[in-house]
Amino acid sequence: MNAVRPTSDDLQMLTRLCRANEVPEQGVKQVAPPGKDAEYAVYRLDGEFFATDDLCTHAMVSLSYGDVEDGIIHCPMHGGAFEIRTGKPAALPCRIPLKTYKVVVVDGEVFADLG
Ligand code: FES
Repeated sequence: MNAVRPTSDDLQMLTRLCRANEVPEQGVKQVAPPGKDAEYAVYRLDGEFFATDDLCTHAMVSLSYGDVEDGIIHCPMHGGAFEIRTGKPAALPCRIPLKTYKVVVVDGEVFADLG
């Protein structure tokens, strides 16, 4: 489970997304971190956490309202999909990769490097 523990200096460069227990196993949660002008999607796959942009790259629909299945997030519109771990498009009409973010979990809190 995201095994590398960051130092306190590292943590200051990261954005807190949510508590780990708020993300359902094999599911997705939408988060809106304070100070950021965007929503993000946080996923838990087999106990490991991932984060992506929340908006589908096809037509700006929130992916966190979609379904997670076998490591794929299925967009709630138009049948598109992405690989959660890589952001790679997995089904048309999605052609543009989804932006992914490095995630760490510290003391039950999920953080990401949102750049
Ligand atoms: S908005 Fe996601 S597939 Fe069209």
